Amino acid sequence: MSNIVLVGFMGTGKSAVGRLLAKKLNREFLELDGLIEKKEGVSIREIFEKKGEPYFRKLEKDAVKAVMRKKDIVISAGGGAIIDRENLVRLKENGVIVCLEASPDVILKRTEGSLVRPLLNVPDPKQKIKSLLEKRKDAYKKSDFCIDTDNMTIEEVVEKITGFCL
Ligand code: S3P
Repeated sequence: MSNIVLVGFMGTGKSAVGRLLAKKLNREFLELDGLIEKKEGVSIREIFEKKGEPYFRKLEKDAVKAVMRKKDIVISAGGGAIIDRENLVRLKENGVIVCLEASPDVILKRTEGSLVRPLLNVPDPKQKIKSLLEKRKDAYKKSDFCIDTDNMTIEEVVEKITGFCL
C-alpha cells in the first residue's frame, strides 16, 4: 500500500479526516505544516508574517521532499502544496492523492475567526476564497480522487477514502 495524501483548499477537513483515517488504518499521520512548524520552531502564521509566503513555499517544498521517502502513511498537505507541480509529482510517486473539496460558503464557515490561516486574514475572506479556488482548481483536479465534503461528516469522508484506496 502506498501513502494516502490529502490535499485541497483550507477548511476542507484535511487534518480532521487525516487524523481519523490514520487511526482507522493504524498508520502514521503527518501534516506538512506540522513538520514545517517543528523544523522552524515557529507557527505558520509567524513564518508568513516574518519571512513571507515565498519563504514558506520553500519550506513546504523541503517538507514534501522529506515525506516522499515515507511509505504506508497518511499525509495532510497544506492547501497550496500541490499548486507547485514538482510537489504534486513527488507526492504522487508513492501516494494516492485525494482532494477534499468544499464550496466557498462552507469554507468560509469552517475557517471564520481562525487566525492560523494568514492567506484568509484579509478584509474580504470570501472573495479571497473564491479567487484562490478559481486559480487552484486545475491543480486540484490533477488528484486521483475528489470528494465534495459540503454535506459529509468526517466519518463519512474517511469511509469514502477507504473505499477508494483499499
Ligand atoms: C495554505 C494552507 C494552509 C497553510 C498555509 C497556506 C494555502 O494549510 O499551509 O497557511 O496556501 O492554502 P491548510 O490547508 O491545512 O489550512
